[in-house]
Amino acid sequence: MTWEANRSWHVMRPLVYYLIENLVPREMADGRILDFSAGLGDLSRYLTEQGAEVVSTLPEATAPNGELNWVTGIAAGRIAETFEAGLFDLAVARMVLQFPTWEGDRADPDTVVEEFGQVLRPGGRLVIAFHEFAMPLDEGRRELVNYLGLPPREGPHGETGYGLKVPMLVTTLQNRGFDIETAEHAEPFTFPTSLEGVDEGVLERLGRDVMSTKRRYLVDRAPGTYERPGVIREMLEELAEMFRFVTWPIVRVVARRR
Ligand SMILES: C[S@@+](CC[C@H](N)C(=O)[O-])C[C@H]1O[C@@H](n2cnc3c(N)ncnc32)[C@H](O)[C@@H]1O
Repeated sequence: MTWEANRSWHVMRPLVYYLIENLVPREMADGRILDFSAGLGDLSRYLTEQGAEVVSTLPEATAPNGELNWVTGIAAGRIAETFEAGLFDLAVARMVLQFPTWEGDRADPDTVVEEFGQVLRPGGRLVIAFHEFAMPLDEGRRELVNYLGLPPREGPHGETGYGLKVPMLVTTLQNRGFDIETAEHAEPFTFPTSLEGVDEGVLERLGRDVMSTKRRYLVDRAPGTYERPGVIREMLEELAEMFRFVTWPIVRVVARRR
């Protein structure tokens, strides 16, 4: 069973993040793109619609549908041995890099970034989004960590936290041949806390409404740095009228291979 099938991702995915045009803007959606651990393929579909040639990978053996150019069996640590050096103009890993661990899959984010460096052409870009390192203190966030299966990471004072540490990622990118172009909070992850027993059709409609609400704030309004906090607050207030959730910061980093 895939990670997605185990978690009813088809209904959860639209509730938790938007991350489409605000992850890969149209001007970057071009050339040959690797969508690493592409999940259900919604980002791959968007990139293909923009005219890019997209390869979508999955760690598991079976692809969820036939419409995309799936390459299966690509767990972290198997990228460079699978694809030709310098093949891609862009590599995208949306909400993936916080998962691989040495213990579980024999690859940590250092290894994965190194591999992205090998399969990207010089000047090619890496676009990643991930849960920022945080310590879940309340029940809702503990539930989020358990549901997603986020591996534990050590905090600056020896605490156990979850998500990717930005200082660690910066060092990883610098040491593996990347220059960072931008690093920012993309949007808050919104994890539902009260959906038990809700009919699937209702959830699917809710997901569509959540996606279009987020699109309105994050893409149509595309707020600048100073306007953003107010816009994000307004967005969360509107979403809170639709469902109950806890939030977690999502970081987006764009780096360029030297
Ligand atoms: C939150 S989902 C994101 C999926 C997709 N990118 C999306 O945004 O919908 C996390 C993904 O990480 C993948 N993953 C976890 N550990 C992995 C590993 N060691 N190697 C490759 N992918 C991994 C899971 O299979 C899952 O598809």
